[in-house]
Amino acid sequence: MIFQLLIVAILVLVVVYLKGVKNEQYWRKRGVVFYQRNKVVGIAWDYITQDRAFFEHFHDIYKKYPNEPAVGIGSVLKPAILLRDLTNIQHITSTEFNAFNHKGFEIIEEDTLANNIFLVNGRKWKLLRQSMSPLFTSSKLKLMYHTIDKSARDIVPYMRSNPKLMKGNALETVSTFCSAAMTAAVFGISANSIFESPFLKIIQNVVKPTFWLGLKFVLSINAPVLVRIFKIKFFSQAEKFFVGAIKNLLKSRVNEPIKRHDFADLCVSIQKNGMLKDEETGLEVDPTDELLAAQAFFFFTAGVHPTATAIYNTLLLLGQHPEALKRLHDEIDEAFDKNEGNMSFDVVAQLEYLDMVLNESMRLYPPVGYVLRECVSDSVLPVGNIKIEKGTTLFIPIFPVHRDEKYYPDPEVFDPERLYRDNKAKLNEKAFLPFGKGNRICIGARYATAQAKAGLVQLLRNFTVKTKVFGNDIKYKKDQIQVQLTNVDVEFIERKVKCYL
Ligand code: HEM
Ligand SMILES: *[C@@H]1O[C@H](CO)[C@@H](O)[C@H](O)[C@H]1NC(C)=O
Ligand SMILES: *[C@@H]1O[C@H](CO)[C@@H](O)[C@H](O)[C@H]1NC(C)=O
Ligand SMILES: *[C@@H]1O[C@H](CO)[C@@H](O)[C@H](O)[C@H]1NC(C)=O
Repeated sequence: MIFQLLIVAILVLVVVYLKGVKNEQYWRKRGVVFYQRNKVVGIAWDYITQDRAFFEHFHDIYKKYPNEPAVGIGSVLKPAILLRDLTNIQHITSTEFNAFNHKGFEIIEEDTLANNIFLVNGRKWKLLRQSMSPLFTSSKLKLMYHTIDKSARDIVPYMRSNPKLMKGNALETVSTFCSAAMTAAVFGISANSIFESPFLKIIQNVVKPTFWLGLKFVLSINAPVLVRIFKIKFFSQAEKFFVGAIKNLLKSRVNEPIKRHDFADLCVSIQKNGMLKDEETGLEVDPTDELLAAQAFFFFTAGVHPTATAIYNTLLLLGQHPEALKRLHDEIDEAFDKNEGNMSFDVVAQLEYLDMVLNESMRLYPPVGYVLRECVSDSVLPVGNIKIEKGTTLFIPIFPVHRDEKYYPDPEVFDPERLYRDNKAKLNEKAFLPFGKGNRICIGARYATAQAKAGLVQLLRNFTVKTKVFGNDIKYKKDQIQVQLTNVDVEFIERKVKCYL
């Protein structure tokens, strides 16, 4: 018996060893260096066994090969490669987009809420992106801004009436603000204060990520067959609620004469126009209530957490940099006084230092650490002349690029000044990618920026911040995509502002 087990064990080791050799040869043949640790399972092993975020492993590999355009990494089913060169990143995200339009997730048609812009691919993605884009233009944003600003103003009294919110857990507080603003923007709730709406609590609950959801994502990328065979649905728990809520919303809006310029308005007009049609291929997609619910759902799932993280990280950094905090307080106070407290879209958009601070904080801590693409037809990466086969997974390292001293001198230093006018000309625009790049760049980037600024302006007008760090080193939450600091918190403290009114 022991003898048989030994044979099996040896066989397994031999197969694993050979697969590792094969992986290495695959990339060597293409002139690409190969990451030597875990030649078969890549960084999955390190991720499972260590208490670190996924992007940190990419960062290690990125730093290990400073002169390479790309690094091959171990993988079981499909070849995998980590891109380092910005021209190659541009190649797959825009120049040769058609060969790389796939996000690498496997979903099934029956998974109602998975039929969203974020997860679908190819022509269907194009149709959805086109139909949702009108919601995210600057002119729409200006019309929506009133709603965003209202939620930002409401958060101040909401915090004052719950003093424990001032003492810590700041990420949760700003996250509530982001859910509230999104709820108001999508569902048009006109309660006195959005924070009092019971709807908000329900939504926060249904979109909460769970352990199972994380596992399904891993399966979906690594073993797509299983998703198909077992008909695994990602979001069944939220389906009933979201589809129901959208159905009610659209029913109440169809006959309403006033235009509100929000998500529901757009849905009504999309449905009036009938089928979404792709002229090139003849593909038709029916904009059912279910399909529109899937989009709304994903604005919450893809939008709330990163925006909250961006606000939180900014506050955190301000708490650690008193000069920057003072300068931003001054800028905000001056704008409040000049505009008699009416912080409209244009006023906030013109706050130059706020823009620098927010961008610099998203450079240092991009809320999303990396993104990926799957190749759908053979292509060649220009730098290094690297042949990429259909089916290959390509990783785009956002965090590591943002910390590369080739693009940012003293990359670990928070220095908003590097983004000031003339200084900015020295930077490479391609090396700033908190929202991704190219055709599948974040559709909510402008909205997120406006929302983050609205929140920061109201919070900093009324409070100052104090950052608490637990321990000496920076520590990130073990998470598959996010970049989230864990051993820190922010405290809000009432501030007396001189009133010039
Ligand atoms: C600071 C906040 C945000 C950050 C850092 C962020 C980051 C990103 C990134 C990196 C991508 C690209 C994914 C890829 O290339 O694979 C993305 C895509 C996307 N984001 Fe955001 N996002 C933010 C806010 C939002 C908001 C507020 C919304 C919704 C209103 C949103 C909706 C989406 C959607 C729908 C996509 C998919 C776009 C497509 O594939 O065509 N995001 N986001
Ligand atoms: C605030 O400014 C905006 C844009 O200039 C304007 O539309 C709005 O009526 C103003 N609101 C108040 C209360 O003055
Ligand atoms: C901040 O980033 C946005 C893109 O996300 C860009 O349009 C803007 O010019 C940047 N501002 C500064 C000061 O770098
Ligand atoms: C924030 O502080 C300013 C100045 O003290 C005040 O006018 C404003 O009403 C406060 N905002 C809220 C929402 O309480």
